[in-house]
Amino acid sequence: MKPVALWMSCLLALSGLAHGLELTASEAAGKRLYREGLSAQNVEISARVGASDMLLPAQAVPCANCHGADGRGRPEGGVRPPDITWRRLSSTYGLSVNGRHHPAYTEAAFARAVSEGRDPAGNRLDPAMPRFVLTLRDQANLTAYLKRLEDDRDPGLEPQRLRLGTLLPRQGPMAELGNTVAAVLTAAIEQINQTGGIHGRILELVNVDPGNDKASARAALHTLIDNARVFALIAPLAPALDDEMPGLLEQAQVPLVGSLSLFGAFAGSGQIFEPLPGLREQMLALARYAAGSLQLEASQSVIIHPASETQAALAQRLVLGLREQGWTHVTTLAYSADNLQALKNAQTVFYLGSAGDFAELAGRLDRAGLAPWLFAASTQVAGEVLQVPEAFSERLFLAYPFVPEDWTSAGRAALSDLRQRSGLGGQHAVLQVGAYCSVLLLSEGLKRAGRDVSRRSLIEAVESLHDFDTGLTPQMNFGPGKRLGLSGAHIVRVQLPEQRFYSMGPFIRVP
Ligand code: HEC
Repeated sequence: MKPVALWMSCLLALSGLAHGLELTASEAAGKRLYREGLSAQNVEISARVGASDMLLPAQAVPCANCHGADGRGRPEGGVRPPDITWRRLSSTYGLSVNGRHHPAYTEAAFARAVSEGRDPAGNRLDPAMPRFVLTLRDQANLTAYLKRLEDDRDPGLEPQRLRLGTLLPRQGPMAELGNTVAAVLTAAIEQINQTGGIHGRILELVNVDPGNDKASARAALHTLIDNARVFALIAPLAPALDDEMPGLLEQAQVPLVGSLSLFGAFAGSGQIFEPLPGLREQMLALARYAAGSLQLEASQSVIIHPASETQAALAQRLVLGLREQGWTHVTTLAYSADNLQALKNAQTVFYLGSAGDFAELAGRLDRAGLAPWLFAASTQVAGEVLQVPEAFSERLFLAYPFVPEDWTSAGRAALSDLRQRSGLGGQHAVLQVGAYCSVLLLSEGLKRAGRDVSRRSLIEAVESLHDFDTGLTPQMNFGPGKRLGLSGAHIVRVQLPEQRFYSMGPFIRVP
């Protein structure tokens, strides 16, 4: 089945889905108690722990710590907290926990277990289970929530499946890029599913075409989050929505793994993890190289950008970055065909913008007898580099998020397997690798977060990835507040007209 058809059928199947779980005030208070150990009135709850009845605030030992946010129990260090979903506790077949048998729980028996540590048969529970000092109100809230616990999962998370979403154009100018990413995601996810999925869950992917403008992209995101109810987003391509995306995701608390700022504005949101460096980091790496190896930091430098607000803002942020690196004469210029005059004295040009404009600019500079040093990101201009006049031979430098020397044999094998599955060739390699790395990061995060995953724990798990080896890029690092896995670039010098590309040494990291 073709990916597009598969997605369509996914969407159709999803259209009847229920909306988010609404909790009553009492249930919501119970949830706070269950997850955080806090009472509705914000008074401290205490708990007695262990054989010696040591007194601790319940905040230090909330139920979810041991029984899991899903109530299924999380064995740890020899302690085996049982499944306490109401369905199991109230089962009329009677229960056996860690070798003991007892009748089904009633609300009163449940209260006794929580406050006295005894099961319905009167047996003492293992002292690892704390005894909580609760008011009647707190106990009632807790019971109310426990009965809803099984329904209270993050969206997109079902016992046997986990639903992911993406926004990839199938029509219009970005269709080819969209289809490339779609093919990579489908093939990589299929491979994970063939080996059983992650923690017993098959991954499902829902794609909605974001169209070409902001309104359609916004509607598509809304469809993914509110109708398809995806758990997380992966590698979307919807530049029209770039500046709104962080706010919208934060509001909906949906995590995203994907290289958004590779082509456009910097996302910088706690919900968004980016495997590959953004434009800003790549340009700063170019600047660092230009200063260190070519000693250009005192030259007359111009940052050329497309005439749009977001691009002008990006150019301004680059000016600051360059000044911090010691560049002394940096200005910005919105590119148009008739303002070549302003480039008369430029010795160094940092270019932001489209490939077509880049080749045209180089042609105009050449005809005007100008040959400044040119610096640009491969993701933006690589397609047109061969149209650049020979006068720029060895004066043109491109930033690459990775080069083939970064590829390990395992990484190469994975990529060629992926290409075989998806029928892709070598075109749009950065996009392919970016999408593939997004799947790697997300699946590693899901594995580490465990069966009892939530959106929050997924974010924490990806955040904890250090020296993460993708096999196709330098190692990636994340952390609290660190959302770009790779910050910097490889610098590649271009020789014309032979069209030879020379990697100029190791990956240059920038802050
Ligand atoms: C420090 C870990 C820990 C915390 C925190 C904890 N429990 Fe437990 N709980 C356990 C363990 C371990 C057992 C199993 C005891 C046994 O085997 O006798 C247990 C047993 C239970 C049982 C009995 C289940 C059965 O099948 O008989 C219930 C009910 C229960 N816990 C509810 C809660 C609730 C509600 C909270 C929060 C208010 C909570 N627990 C907090 C570790 C914990």
